[in-house]
Amino acid sequence: MSDRITISVIKADVGGYVGHSSIHSDLLETAKEKLSNALEKGHMVDFHVTRCGDDLELIMTHKHGTDNEDIHKLAWDTFLACTEVAKDLKLYGAGQDILKDAFTGTVKGLGPGVAEMEFEERKSEPIIVFMADKTSPGAWNLPLYRMFADPFNTAGLVIDPTMHEGFVFEVLDVHGHRKITLSCPEEAYDLLMFIGAMGRFMIRAVYRKDGEIAAAASTQKLSEIAGRYVGKDDPVLIVRSQSGLPAVGEILEPFAFPHLVEGWMRGSHHGPLMPVPFYEANPSRFDGPPRVIAAGFQLCHGKLIGPRDLFDDPSFDEARKKANEIANYMRHHGPFEPHRLGLDVMEYTTMPQLMKKLESRFKPE
Ligand code: 13P
Ligand code: 13P
Ligand code: MG
Ligand code: MG
Repeated sequence: MSDRITISVIKADVGGYVGHSSIHSDLLETAKEKLSNALEKGHMVDFHVTRCGDDLELIMTHKHGTDNEDIHKLAWDTFLACTEVAKDLKLYGAGQDILKDAFTGTVKGLGPGVAEMEFEERKSEPIIVFMADKTSPGAWNLPLYRMFADPFNTAGLVIDPTMHEGFVFEVLDVHGHRKITLSCPEEAYDLLMFIGAMGRFMIRAVYRKDGEIAAAASTQKLSEIAGRYVGKDDPVLIVRSQSGLPAVGEILEPFAFPHLVEGWMRGSHHGPLMPVPFYEANPSRFDGPPRVIAAGFQLCHGKLIGPRDLFDDPSFDEARKKANEIANYMRHHGPFEPHRLGLDVMEYTTMPQLMKKLESRFKPE
């Protein structure tokens, strides 16, 4: 029997508790119940339900490949059921990421975020699922570059003959609705030119040069779907590890540096991405600072053995301390850039209304 397996991570914010800081346990229970029923009917191999901040995360393994209608429908129906629970409890922003009324064969474009990959399960298959809250998909650009293209981060790029050739990055241009593939190390400078602009260019996938998938990220931008600010995208990322791919420690290493990302309060501020254990993924100070958790699994014939809470390690204490220092520093700017996002992004929020109101008061000078 083929050991080809698909891992689908589909997430949505269907209601926050309290405000946008965390999630109510009834939502997690409802999601587990829904997915348990589907598992019993044989629709999946395994699943794990968790959350990061106010985002509900469905991690599923199955044999149906990526973009499978049944799996997406299952996730959609689960989010709808959880939205009802959120409404009953009057949780904040109930149904926040349910942007469209009807399911159309995929959850893409409807509000939820999706990261999926299909592969032949190896002799041992360690994977890490990263989940973030109060930020956007561009937040993965820097860590993904470090993992797969920076020899100062990933020793294997230099030392391991099976990684020496480097990796291929698929980059999405969100505004142009197009993508480009760039190969590292040869095109590293070209790649950096694009992915340094995190609001527009996002790494969607990373491949080994033999075509084997190594990483897949969610790249859904809610504002692009809704045409206005409706909450942040709070992305997810799946990374495979070891034996010709970066080691678990090389994949975690970039998060020892809490880099600045878009998100935080009202999705309109720059702040540091703080790596935290599961139980600390409750962004409360100024609705942040942005958080990331890392769930490690050993796949075993599609079964999710885990998770291990990979940032629950004192070696990330310094990153958390640094993130708090940066948070203080950034907060002192109040409503000034670069703490507040630039005007191009504010166009989605207050700026157009304010401009309209004050238009007549602008005089030629
Ligand atoms: P509201 O209180 O109007 O929802 O805005 C604040 C917020 O939390 C944005 O998501
Ligand atoms: P979420 O996208 O996590 O719901 O956060 C919205 C927000 O505006 C927080 O201030
Ligand atoms: Mg929310
Ligand atoms: Mg959120």
